[in-house]
Amino acid sequence: MKKLFKDIKSVVSMNEGSIPKRGNDLCKIGLMNGVDILTEDGFIKEISPKGRYSSSDVDVLYSAEGLTALPGLIDAHTHAVFFGTRVNEFYQRSQGRSYLEILESGGGILSTVRSVRSAESSDIENFASRFIESFLDYGTTTVEIKSGYGLTIDDEIKMLRVIRDISERKNIGIVPTFLGAHAIPVEYEADKSKYVDLVCEKMIPRVAEKGLAVFCDLFCEKGVFSPSDSRRIAQSAVKNGLRMKFHAEQFSRSGVADLAVEYKAASVDHCVEMNRDDLDKISKTDTVMIFLPGTELILGQNKYAPARSAVSKNCVIALASDFNPGSCPIQSLWLIGSLGVIELALSCEEVLNAITVNAAYSLGIHNSVGLIKEGYKADMIFIQENDLREIFYFVGKNPVKTVVKDGKVIRVSE
Ligand code: NIG
Ligand code: FE
Repeated sequence: MKKLFKDIKSVVSMNEGSIPKRGNDLCKIGLMNGVDILTEDGFIKEISPKGRYSSSDVDVLYSAEGLTALPGLIDAHTHAVFFGTRVNEFYQRSQGRSYLEILESGGGILSTVRSVRSAESSDIENFASRFIESFLDYGTTTVEIKSGYGLTIDDEIKMLRVIRDISERKNIGIVPTFLGAHAIPVEYEADKSKYVDLVCEKMIPRVAEKGLAVFCDLFCEKGVFSPSDSRRIAQSAVKNGLRMKFHAEQFSRSGVADLAVEYKAASVDHCVEMNRDDLDKISKTDTVMIFLPGTELILGQNKYAPARSAVSKNCVIALASDFNPGSCPIQSLWLIGSLGVIELALSCEEVLNAITVNAAYSLGIHNSVGLIKEGYKADMIFIQENDLREIFYFVGKNPVKTVVKDGKVIRVSE
């Protein structure tokens, strides 16, 4: 099936500079004017000079009059599959209770663990489905989703199966990550190392053997998993063919950069407490620093990741939502992008690279999504804008008018 998208105001292809984008390349967005986009069977077939093809050459013709095309956005860090909200904690934090205090008293992540353990898979899937629809409303066509609210072999596998089922049923790209080391489950409170044994010796091999995850993640933080726990987990993950991601340097510095280098991590996420030495180490690698400024906003941390220093040191950076029921109920990458400008001092172009091509790179899918390029998946969004920089300036606005996933037009709004 051939489709022609014509009358496009401009195409922000992101296809300019080398991948992953660093330094000055982060300012390049591959702007093209006077072109139509021809898709065939879900892929971008040709970016052709305006008017080369007409209705008689194709099966379907779409007029994108006055709209700007961008690659579908990629959210490289979410916890979008869970059961029940934690709206009560949101209000408790506004009254002064901290995120880690709530976790230490058995709430936070552990409260979602209780809900997920006692829910049926079908209920979890239904609950998560509305979030998937809303990612698509915002123009996010690929999401990474982590497990991490089961914390037993069966419950982690139950979560990963739900993630797989959603990816089969919904029109969205999903990259699954195993996050067994998200919190210490209550039954192992007195002997954390036994839980780390379980993660390393049973959970990781089982998840890898079933092909239920591409990445392994963990939460390296004071009171949760230490750098030495993290090393054991990384060893097992890499041995079993899973690439590492680290939730780290969120509230305190653990020096995780050394582990990221040693285990060739796909990403280190949060990075608020990273120092200059850490940045130097990361800058010499292809590990992506994924900033999650929505979390710092929601938790009222008043401190954000050192994004400008990371860019000037040539680190690869991306931005993601961290969407989850506790620390970040934000799904819109447009809002996250505005925080990237306001709090991380990134430019509009840097933000766009951070939520498209570099996000794709952090998930190892940069050869098929993240750019508008011939041969790539026809995952595209059409947005209404007068000046590209206004999309992050109108904070909270969703500029998306049309969403195309695998060549199918799945959203059209006035
Ligand atoms: O990235 N820090 C650990 N994990 C998540 C929060 C998950 C939750 O609170 O449910 C995060 O912030
Ligand atoms: Fe997270």
